[in-house]
Amino acid sequence: MGLSGAGKTTLAEGLANVLKQNGQSVVLLDGDILRTGLNKNLGFTEEDRSENVRRTAEVAKLFLQQGYWVLVALITPLEAMRKSTRQILGNQYLEVFVDTPLAICQARDPKGLYEQVANEKIKNFTGIDSPFEIPNLPFFILKTENKTVEETIQELWEILQIPTSI
Ligand code: ADX
Repeated sequence: MGLSGAGKTTLAEGLANVLKQNGQSVVLLDGDILRTGLNKNLGFTEEDRSENVRRTAEVAKLFLQQGYWVLVALITPLEAMRKSTRQILGNQYLEVFVDTPLAICQARDPKGLYEQVANEKIKNFTGIDSPFEIPNLPFFILKTENKTVEETIQELWEILQIPTSI
């Protein structure tokens, strides 16, 4: 979880690659990609985001039952959505908060979306005019400032305590 531009997709892709190199079965569920298919009828109201998170959790559950690592990159902005995910996945749900400050996400602006928000072309944007609740007790908080992507992935790898090495 984390703001748009926080680095969720980049980190999930990097971790997925490392897991695959170590012989693990991995699936990556990314919000932007899911929203082009399975979730393409959903927008960014609270109701639609909740449904987006719910469907993704149910897909994750199916893959978990088949023995996959499931890496999910979704903003997941509200505690209620995280709570319902926990109800679906139980202790297989490890919340990683990619804690990149809004100002840095805005400066990175990888998809040019913050610029569009500033020009009032997009409404209900997370962290601007749509809420993002700081998670109460995430499994892990990743700070991405002043670190390379590789260093951050290494940190994730270590915290997962997978008994193989990069
Ligand atoms: S979530 O809130 O429902 O968890 P999700 O992770 O699927 O969001 O989608 C977020 C992505 O949609 C962002 O990274 C961005 O590319 C795009 N996006 C488009 N409009 C918005 C918006 N209003 N708020 C947030 N993200 C948006």
